[in-house]
Amino acid sequence: MEKLIRIALDGPSGSGKSTIAKRLSNELNILYLDTGAMYRATALKAIKMGVDSFDAVGVGRFIDEIDLEIKYIDGTQHTFLDGEDVSLKIREPHVSMAASNISSLKSVRLKMVEMQRKIAGNLSCVLDGRDIGSYVLPNADFKFYITASVEERANRRYKELIERGHNVDYNDLKMEIEQRDYNDKNRDFSPLKMADDAILIDTSDMSIEEVCNTVLSYINK
Ligand code: DC
Repeated sequence: MEKLIRIALDGPSGSGKSTIAKRLSNELNILYLDTGAMYRATALKAIKMGVDSFDAVGVGRFIDEIDLEIKYIDGTQHTFLDGEDVSLKIREPHVSMAASNISSLKSVRLKMVEMQRKIAGNLSCVLDGRDIGSYVLPNADFKFYITASVEERANRRYKELIERGHNVDYNDLKMEIEQRDYNDKNRDFSPLKMADDAILIDTSDMSIEEVCNTVLSYINK
């Protein structure tokens, strides 16, 4: 039987985790789970229901019954909410902020982590998020903490959103990223933090190619 390989990629918003995770999943032929998509879909559910993303009681009323599904279509993750493919909708800037807020709620985190562990099951996989190495998969074979300066991350997000046709302002994005960093690092339950045994990679001055090669060099060692 082949040995399972489980990889945790954590780090702040816009550090390039998802691009790296996709590459790893292709190179190693393993499942990729973007856990941020699940928090985003939960935030979208709250928006649809008119519930504030910090409202623990309001969110608590729907979280256990949330109809959230992750499906793989032609090898790509699609996120379904109430039967609708919301993979694009959850990328909109207002959903990003709501996702950051809602992810501070303990009931949401417990539900998401339970679902993530079920999806990753007994498979070789790479998961990206904030708490994968520290909480979701504490026994992962490889843990990486991917970061970059706020300016560089805002720049990357700006280019990405402009390419997708969104009309955004660089300074607004930078402020939003700072706010999300603050939320992610300061929530009480399972905050963003580098696992003690994670490998730190600062991608500020690195190309995607260089980051992938660095990560792969640790895995292939
Ligand atoms: O990675 P992302 O930007 O798509 O994530 C959206 C939000 O979800 C982010 O602000 C923090 C939260 N998140 C989390 O708290 N834990 C995870 N494992 C993944 C994302």
